[in-house]
Amino acid sequence: MTDPQRVAIVTGGAGKLGSAIAARLLEDGVAVVVADVNADAAAATVAGFRARFAAPSHSVTADLGSVDSIESLAREVGERFGRLDIVVNNAAVNRRSTLSELTPEAWDVMSDVNLRAPAILVSRVLGFFKAQNGGSVVNIASRNWVSGGPVAYTTMKAGIVGMTRSFATELAKYNVTANAVAPSFIESDFTSYDRDDEQMRRLMEQYQAITPLPRMAEPRDVANAVAFLASPAASFITGEVLHVCGGAQLAPLPRTPLAVEHPERR
Ligand SMILES: NC(=O)c1ccc[n+]([C@@H]2O[C@H](COP(=O)([O-])OP(=O)(O)OC[C@H]3O[C@@H](n4cnc5c(N)ncnc54)[C@H](O)[C@@H]3O)[C@@H](O)[C@H]2O)c1
Repeated sequence: MTDPQRVAIVTGGAGKLGSAIAARLLEDGVAVVVADVNADAAAATVAGFRARFAAPSHSVTADLGSVDSIESLAREVGERFGRLDIVVNNAAVNRRSTLSELTPEAWDVMSDVNLRAPAILVSRVLGFFKAQNGGSVVNIASRNWVSGGPVAYTTMKAGIVGMTRSFATELAKYNVTANAVAPSFIESDFTSYDRDDEQMRRLMEQYQAITPLPRMAEPRDVANAVAFLASPAASFITGEVLHVCGGAQLAPLPRTPLAVEHPERR
């Protein structure tokens, strides 16, 4: 008897890292639900996947900041696939969030998506994990959880690590693993938020300078780590944080305000 096809949800699956993660899971034969607030980008991502991969992919427009939307995502996955094996909590929003820039509004919009959504989503798909006696959750953290950085973002990424450990202990009885992947800097809409080209170029140079391995991270590096942690090969690994940073998790943030402040605020 062949194993049933595994099914994954990748939140923020239309973004830079999310689409690479989704593609990597499809390569492994996993059916992937690309859940993203950007309906056009999600549909275009899945159209591209269908041309490249035999495993099925499906887009769902979901605003992870809304509990109703998370619940309808869980329902839709159940109706379409009848099972769920992997949740990749990747979606996040970025706002200016250093202490000098922080607003309650920025904190709330970030925390709804970056922190509340992963917990609500996993709580709403628990029934699949229980019924199947298995599954895996991979949360996308960030190197910032060790290095520090803008207060809201860093707090939420450290929170995701705490949540991962909580998931690992709470979900173990259902034979479900939970791990985090903590990437370093990769150019994307997320990291270029509110930065111009010159600021991005300098920031990338600074990250390269603190990265022991002689290149920058690629989305594929992160996707490989996620695919491993979601695979049967990692079935006895839980509660871990896998840094995909070329060693940069060993270094402090660049000694410049650019990584944590915006230049005009210096
Ligand atoms: N790029 C990096 O350098 C880097 C480094 C460390 C960690 N990360 C983490 O990786 C993850 C992905 O980042 P990225 O660089 O691919 O960003 P990205 O901007 O390319 O992708 C983010 C995706 O999330 C979606 N999204 C945003 N708000 C949403 C919502 N409310 N509901 C559903 N989807 C929503 C966006 O539409 C987008 O498709 C984030 O968790 C980020 O914190 C990124």
